Amino acid sequence: MESPFKPDVLKGKVALITGGGSGIGFEISSQFGKHGASIAIMGRRKQVLDSAVSDLRSLGISAIGFEGDVRKPEDAKRVVESTFQRFGRIDILVNAAAGNFLSAAEDLSTNGFRTVLDIDAVGTFNMCHEALKYLKKGGPGRDSSSSGGSILNISATLHYTASWYQIHVSAAKAAVDATTRNLALEWGTDYEIRVNGIAPGPIGGTPGMSKLVPDEIENKTREYMPLYKLGEKWDIAMAAIYLSCDTGKYVNGLTMVVDGGLFLSKPRHLAKEAVKELSRVVEKRSRAKPVGLPTSKL
Ligand code: COA
Repeated sequence: MESPFKPDVLKGKVALITGGGSGIGFEISSQFGKHGASIAIMGRRKQVLDSAVSDLRSLGISAIGFEGDVRKPEDAKRVVESTFQRFGRIDILVNAAAGNFLSAAEDLSTNGFRTVLDIDAVGTFNMCHEALKYLKKGGPGRDSSSSGGSILNISATLHYTASWYQIHVSAAKAAVDATTRNLALEWGTDYEIRVNGIAPGPIGGTPGMSKLVPDEIENKTREYMPLYKLGEKWDIAMAAIYLSCDTGKYVNGLTMVVDGGLFLSKPRHLAKEAVKELSRVVEKRSRAKPVGLPTSKL
């Protein structure tokens, strides 16, 4: 699908995207690049990085890949500094690296729980912490008249209520959302850095989808989705552009839900036609038989 944004909305910007080699992270990398940004992607798997960088370059995008694990502060520091050395500035940090698998709480080890918190929550913090120096107003490579850069944290909606077999990810994403809000407050005030998030719903063609929603249950899931379909990676990338370029200049501390309204939804127990027929009947019945009075008194 064509982008509704002008192709130069991110011209001259430099974006560092963790988990940028695959899934939603890669789509954000390529859409940011198509809109003028230079791209650094960070990931653990060299092969994935190499192939993503070569795909980006074949689109005419200035791109580089850095191997690293967001859980390790020394990797975060090295990759942030290498990005600055390569491009001379950093404007946007996207934290898209995440870990996930289905596991019943009772089968999950402490290390399993901790691993996902480490990747999602600690990893996000590490990257933000190291990037601060470059993102802040007046930081290296930034001209003195412009504001600070921006941060985008990819989250989820799992923790808004509760999600089966996702205790680790729900806890991790709750921490990510709290990090988004707290940094938006502290760094928005002190450094003019905007910090926002995106909470994607089920997005087709992503590692998350294939891990969490096996094909057998995918169709069932669609039955109770308000828009009746899966999202596309494009939907997330467009939200990311909106939040990262000037369109989002007054948005700070928001985690934007991009899930077609699924976060609001509950399975529909009655068809609309049945409601039309039943509702008045039930109303009449309850007037004839006021609630609270035993039938014997009527
Ligand atoms: N069910 C239960 N526990 C699991 C598990 C599963 N499917 N997969 C991993 N674990 C546990 C491991 O058993 C281990 O705990 P233990 O030491 O007590 O046995 C712990 O999690 C760490 O596993 P390990 O494989 O060593 O971690 P890793 O750092 O190599 O990999 C993962 C991290 C597990 C999150 C891996 O799935 C990953 O790399 N994911 C990245 C990609 C991804 O998930 N993308 C989807 C984004 S939505």
